[in-house]
Amino acid sequence: MKAKLVIAMVGLPARGKSTMARKLGRTLEQDGVRVQVFNNGKLRRQMASGASCSTADFFSPANSFGLQMREEIARQNIEAAQAFLAGEGQVAILDATNITRERRAGIMAAFAPVPLCFVECLNADEEALAANLERKAALPEFQDLPREKALENFGQRIAYYEQIYEPLSDEPNRILVDSFDSCILQEQISEVLPYYDRIRDIITTRVVRNLFLVRHGETVYNTENRIGGDSSLTPRGEEQAEALAEHFATVRIPIIFTSNHRRTLQTARPIAARQEPCSIIALPELNEIHAGVCEGLTYEEARQKMPEVARGRAADKYRYVYPGGEGYATMAERVVRGLKKVFYLGNYDENIMIVGHRAVNRMILSRFLSRQEEEIPYIYIPQDRYYHIRIDPYKRSFELVPYRSAPASWVGW
Ligand code: F6P
Repeated sequence: MKAKLVIAMVGLPARGKSTMARKLGRTLEQDGVRVQVFNNGKLRRQMASGASCSTADFFSPANSFGLQMREEIARQNIEAAQAFLAGEGQVAILDATNITRERRAGIMAAFAPVPLCFVECLNADEEALAANLERKAALPEFQDLPREKALENFGQRIAYYEQIYEPLSDEPNRILVDSFDSCILQEQISEVLPYYDRIRDIITTRVVRNLFLVRHGETVYNTENRIGGDSSLTPRGEEQAEALAEHFATVRIPIIFTSNHRRTLQTARPIAARQEPCSIIALPELNEIHAGVCEGLTYEEARQKMPEVARGRAADKYRYVYPGGEGYATMAERVVRGLKKVFYLGNYDENIMIVGHRAVNRMILSRFLSRQEEEIPYIYIPQDRYYHIRIDPYKRSFELVPYRSAPASWVGW
């Protein structure tokens, strides 16, 4: 008989549990394991009529109807998982908050003697959490509420959960995961658990299903060969954005990440308009390299006015820091931080698009390609093509794709 295991997620809402559950499920499935994720939120939305089960009140510990309903949902999913494991199923993943000891004791009792491991997701990064709440507020379940109200509602839901939150403490098999950093903070395993090494691996490995790394369309500054600034797209740039929108019209892109600069937002908007629905999330970490004293100058003007800058860059472009600005090396930390946000906010099994800039996209690519530091500031980042990046335990691919042709074989992923 094949080994069986229950994985039960634990954590407050918006801490990355579902993303982690799907990542575990999908990767184990690719390994040939029969696995299924049982998600309480999904069942709640199916069982109760839309709005009534999404309001904060539904989650109030004082709401006996809500409590009863959530217990019923948990029970149904436990039963479905038991049935799955009684048959051919090997790994059942319970995706729910499971934040009280009592609920967890019930789960352990329900599955014994099948081994069970709790995976608690934490996220101590306030900014990433705030951005995740923004993303949640845009979900269909809040479509009838204005953004502010949706945020307030979700915040109140979290506050209710915080009142009853009991972190993992004495459960025999438990892993505490930082879902923002994809790392294990603590683990306590008291028996030999099937698939355990693989599970550790999956938790800590960055998987990129489909990342489309696009550079913004042509800007006024580009045509003048000017550095930095915040200029708008030219008609040609707008046309490039439209062509990108057309190219990706049949590829599902639920979120587009941009910088705060106008040119990336202007490129992303037509793409988002062809998707239903699609949110644009602007991250300051993806802003273009700040050229300090050279901002707004043409390369030629900068060379004439400040020959030492041009010389410094030519000598060591990666380490050179613009006076009053940044260098590639000094941007690295913020770009990595931006990427962590991207992967935290993007759903693990969905396509992700980043519309960035020349220097920023070089830094992003360098996180995936093994390049010498001195080569990074020279990576080719054209405006008529994008990088399609895929990384999973089975393949690693980078493709420079022209977007005026039809999308290739990955359509429909
Ligand atoms: O497209 C122009 C630009 O994005 C500038 O704003 C930026 O300073 C530059 O490219 C980065 O490229 P390089 O480091 O090669 O000058």
